[in-house]
Amino acid sequence: MTKVTAQMSVSLDGYYAGPRHSGDGHWLKSAEAAGFFRVTRWVIDAMSWRERQGFAGGEQGTNSDILAETFEAAGAYVMGRRMADGGEGPWGEEPPFRAPVFVVTHRPRETLVRKGGTSFTYVTDGIVSAIEQARAAANGKNVAIAGGGNLLRQVLKAGLLDELELHIAPVVLGAGMRLLDADLGLGDFEAIELTPTRVVHTPQVTHIRYTVNGRAPLMLDDRGSGSGRTGE
Ligand SMILES: NC(=O)c1ccc[n+]([C@@H]2O[C@H](COP(=O)([O-])OP(=O)(O)OC[C@H]3O[C@@H](n4cnc5c(N)ncnc54)[C@H](OP(=O)(O)O)[C@@H]3O)[C@@H](O)[C@H]2O)c1
Repeated sequence: MTKVTAQMSVSLDGYYAGPRHSGDGHWLKSAEAAGFFRVTRWVIDAMSWRERQGFAGGEQGTNSDILAETFEAAGAYVMGRRMADGGEGPWGEEPPFRAPVFVVTHRPRETLVRKGGTSFTYVTDGIVSAIEQARAAANGKNVAIAGGGNLLRQVLKAGLLDELELHIAPVVLGAGMRLLDADLGLGDFEAIELTPTRVVHTPQVTHIRYTVNGRAPLMLDDRGSGSGRTGE
């Protein structure tokens, strides 16, 4: 059965990239990129990623296996316009996805067909439409929300995400673009509950996979009141 899944590399303090780049200068030289490349260092080093990018070398092992498994499970991707724009150059003529990618944007554009099975279809009627188009293209495999954080937050907020895997890099960035923040629009007495289903630790990164249970009320209870002490 097709699940809507997401993967995101984050720092220990929850940032998926450094402070947002705007204005002059190349993105690759920005603080946003510096934070992004730090939290995704384990990806760039992994052999399975390097193979898909046509790069030599790379580390075999758990991190590479987890990436390979993630690519294998996805039949189509949904991506935010900023991530798609940023990747267009570096991914080159044969991007690593090898599947249809649906880019959520306000900017209409012709579909881009690349080598190796990747295409970029620009969807201007919102996240629900993009996910439905990806589901139809996924051939029974998963729809992977590729990022960035802006898009992923919207999918989580709308209750459309079935599974979230965070790859937590052992680094504190102190500032940057935070994945789970007030833009989720949760009320004071509301939360999103998740169930961890797998934890894999490596020296470079800790992978935690969650099933997303969804929004739930935050209940005040008597746990802090001290009632039920031994001797009472
Ligand atoms: N750490 C990781 O694992 C990871 C993974 C992926 C990406 N990243 C990083 O994340 C950053 C990009 O993420 P981001 O959060 O800034 O942006 P994003 O989610 O990639 O893209 C946001 C853009 O998508 C379009 N969009 C989003 N929702 C829309 C909607 N409902 N309707 C129409 N258009 C919509 C808008 O662009 P327009 O209005 O201009 O069309 C919006 O500005 C980059 O630094 C990238 O390197 C990190």
